[in-house]
Amino acid sequence: MSKEQLIIFDTTLRDGEQSPGASMTKEEKLRIARQLERMRVNVIEAGFPAASNGDFAAVKAVAEVIKDSTVAALSRAFDKDISRALEAIKPAASGRIHTFLATSPIHMEKKLRMSPDDVIAAAKSAVRFARNGIDDVEFSCEDAGRSELDFLCRVIEAVIKEGATTINIPDTVGYNVPEQFAERIKQLRARIPNSDKVVWSVHCHNDLGLAVANSLAAVMAGARQVECTINGLGERAGNASLEEIVMAVRTRQDIFPCETRIDATQIVPASKMVSSITGFPVQPNKAIVGANAFAHESGIHQDGVLKHRETYEIMRAEDVGWNANKLVLGKLSGRTAFRARLKELGIEVESEQVLNTAFMRFKELADKKHEIFDEDLHALMSDEAVTPENERYRLVSSMFHSETGEVPLARLIISTEGIEKEAEASGSGPVDATFKAIESIAASGSELLLYSVTAITTGTDAQGEVTVRLAKDGRIVNGQGADTDIVVASAKAYIHALNTLSSKKEKLNPQI
Ligand code: KIV
Ligand code: ZN
Repeated sequence: MSKEQLIIFDTTLRDGEQSPGASMTKEEKLRIARQLERMRVNVIEAGFPAASNGDFAAVKAVAEVIKDSTVAALSRAFDKDISRALEAIKPAASGRIHTFLATSPIHMEKKLRMSPDDVIAAAKSAVRFARNGIDDVEFSCEDAGRSELDFLCRVIEAVIKEGATTINIPDTVGYNVPEQFAERIKQLRARIPNSDKVVWSVHCHNDLGLAVANSLAAVMAGARQVECTINGLGERAGNASLEEIVMAVRTRQDIFPCETRIDATQIVPASKMVSSITGFPVQPNKAIVGANAFAHESGIHQDGVLKHRETYEIMRAEDVGWNANKLVLGKLSGRTAFRARLKELGIEVESEQVLNTAFMRFKELADKKHEIFDEDLHALMSDEAVTPENERYRLVSSMFHSETGEVPLARLIISTEGIEKEAEASGSGPVDATFKAIESIAASGSELLLYSVTAITTGTDAQGEVTVRLAKDGRIVNGQGADTDIVVASAKAYIHALNTLSSKKEKLNPQI
């Protein structure tokens, strides 16, 4: 007999983006959304359209391309917000409105300054309005984890009568503990007369490190949707991490009464993509996606695993997408093979011109690095995402000098709106000198918030992937660059960030 489905609702592009510094451009959101669809996530929460024109455009763009996942848009419980969200998800093959209102005494009294009866009236009216525009409506009782049970029952019963199809119980401040949170879900489902008409969902924050435990306890108590994010990205300490929820349910099918439709082999590629786009590194000992998650150091463990894998391993690394970086292409591979591999990886190439430049860059890379892996292609194509339209600055050539006892020096030629300019600077190291040289041309006056380097694959010929985070006038942007020379990768990342900063796009990263 087949089990019930556990709906995986990913909010990396909405709650995840609310992490300070994790703002994403429309193109970056599209890349992640495509990867989530490839992973077979049921619902992708793409953003909060009323927050800004930039977020509206990003949600709409996601709605236009995603076919196999429902695209959800968040909105406060106002008709104006809901109308904007409805407009953004109009192109979606399957769309959802996710509207929310706080129900805890502290939020109602101090933040909303609304009486409990007013909250019920506003919640009903929002759900009614949303249902006039779309069939799939989710209602969230913000701070449900600290709301009074009797009041929650009243609000939820009322919004179900108005046509809500999913009821979400967020532990907004990460205050709950597993047994008590599960009991809350059980009580709500038992006490609300029309509770069987909706899917019960949970959305847990990780302030006490309990987001995954609370979500899984709620699943045992009847929740059939979990809201989560890749790498547990999200406000403050983050949200429940998708990879941990999915793999716990899959690994412990002996106890969970439901299953997901997720293609787990896409988990590690998704984790790497989110980490590279946001510049948030994954800690090595992070479950499932940390670099050490499947590494056995102690002799006793290694001996056991060699004799019989299950002695120390409850999951297989390859099942979650580790070691999937097959050797794909080499120096002699042609355009057809290159194009075919990009297609297999789900990487969209906008035009023949983009394909031609990407292919040229692939050949240059293959000259420096004999084995090209999937990760290299992802990095190469994300560099290509900086199209001439948004490319104000471009690195033309670079020279670095670094020698024991000498002051490191960088000399660069940068094209600025088509005009080549030369700059030279010294610094405490070649990267510092490079950034100073770039700034001497761009004079952006931005503040460097983050600089990080990771190796994309293994081996000393691996490409280094650099993330640079810049802040200016309240706007925070990330830039990425990859190259076998990490100083060149650093220059590319800095220039990418400058190009994003100088684009006219509105700030994404909305805070609710
Ligand atoms: O944490 C929260 O309460 C939220 C809601 C908007 C669902 O993110
Ligand atoms: Zn949240």
